[in-house]
Amino acid sequence: MKSMEIAKGVYEVGVSDWNIRDFHGYSTGNGSTYNAYLIVDEKIVLIDTVKASFYPQLMENISRIVDPKKIDIVISNHTEMDHSGSIPMVMHRIGPDKPLYCSKMGFKNLSLHFPQKFNYHPVEKGETLNLGKRTLTFMETRMIHWPDSMFTYLNEDRILFSSDAFGQHYAGPERFDDEIDHEVIMPHAEKYFANILLLYAPKIGKLIDQVVEMGLPLDMVCPDHGIIWRKDPSKIINAYVKWCKQEPVKRAVVVYDSMWHSTEKMAEAIVDGFVAEGVPAKPMHLRSCHRSDVITEVMSAAAVVVGSPTLNNGLFPTVSDFLTYMKGLKPKNKIGGAFGSYGWSGEASKLVKTELESMGFQMADENLKVQYVPDAAGIDACHELGAKIGRAVKETVSD
Ligand code: FEO
Repeated sequence: MKSMEIAKGVYEVGVSDWNIRDFHGYSTGNGSTYNAYLIVDEKIVLIDTVKASFYPQLMENISRIVDPKKIDIVISNHTEMDHSGSIPMVMHRIGPDKPLYCSKMGFKNLSLHFPQKFNYHPVEKGETLNLGKRTLTFMETRMIHWPDSMFTYLNEDRILFSSDAFGQHYAGPERFDDEIDHEVIMPHAEKYFANILLLYAPKIGKLIDQVVEMGLPLDMVCPDHGIIWRKDPSKIINAYVKWCKQEPVKRAVVVYDSMWHSTEKMAEAIVDGFVAEGVPAKPMHLRSCHRSDVITEVMSAAAVVVGSPTLNNGLFPTVSDFLTYMKGLKPKNKIGGAFGSYGWSGEASKLVKTELESMGFQMADENLKVQYVPDAAGIDACHELGAKIGRAVKETVSD
C-alpha cells in the first residue's frame, strides 16, 4: 500500500498485511491493513504506526512525502502492537526526544510495552494541539477497545482518526468507502464489531450518543484498519448505533460439533423446526466455520442453539472453545437452546445449558439429549425443539 493524500496535507501512510489469516484468533480471509496518518502542517505529525515487521514500508511511505526526520510529533491513539509496534524504531529514527502524545492510560501501557523512556505527553480529555494552520483535539474513548484508546480529531478538516473503531480487517485495492460496494465492506465491518467490540457495545453506544450531541461535523472517519469512510461516514456510525443496541433479528443459529454425525443430525432437525415456524436458521459446524464467523452470525440472531456430543464426560473441545469465546464477548438478548448426542454418560448438553444460562440466555426448554443415533422419535424431538424456540423468537421479535 503506497502513501496517499486523503485531504490537503493529510496522508495515509500505513501498510497492507495481505497474507495474515489469523489475527489473534480472528480469521482474516482478506488480510488486513495497519493504517497510519501523516499531517503536514507547520508541525508534522504521525498518527499511529504499524506492526514492527512492517516498519521499513512505513518509512518508505513517509519518505515519499517528507524526510521522516522532519516529523515533529508522534501520536499513539492506542497501544496494541499492531499500531505501536514500530514506535521504538520511529522514535529512534526521528529523534528520541520528540514528543509522543497519548492518553494517560496510553502513557502507562506504552511504558509497560517498551523499556525506552520516550518524551511522553499524556493528554487530557478535550486537550488540543496546535499544528500551525490546524488544530487537533484529543477525545478519550476508554475501553474502545483498550483502556488507553483515544480518538484524535482534526478540527479544520473535520477528520476523525478513530483508532480501531469503525475499522475492518480488509486489505484490497480500495482505500475509500466510495470505491467498494457497501454490501462487500459492511460484512467486514460487522465481523470486526462482533469480534473486537461487542463486549464494549454499551460504552460505544454512549460515546456515539455524546458525539452526536456535540454535533461534531465529520467529513471523514479514518480507522486504523481497512477502508476510510469519506462518502458517507454516517453509514458506519449508524451501523454502530444499530449493533450497539443488539436488537435481535428474527433469525437463529444452530452451532454444534459432532463426532459420528448424530449431533449433526440433531442440529439439522432443529434448523428444520425453526424454518417450519418461518424463522430463518442455519447450522454452523465448528470445524467447518471459524468461531469469528460464528460470533458474527450470533451477534444479531435472536436465538442461539448450541449442541455438543459428550466426550470423556464433558464438552467436545471445539464447543468449549466457542462457549468461552462467546461468553467473553457478552452477546445480549438471546433465546438459547442446548442439545447433543451421547454414548453412556451424556453430560454435554446439560453443560451447554448451564453455560448459556450463565451468559444470561433465556432458555426456551430443557437440554435435549439423544443416546447414540437419533431415531425417528429423536429427530421429531429435535424438530419440536427448533419449532418451540422459533415460536419464542416470534413472540419476542417482530418481522
Ligand atoms: Fe488494531 Fe486494538 O489494535
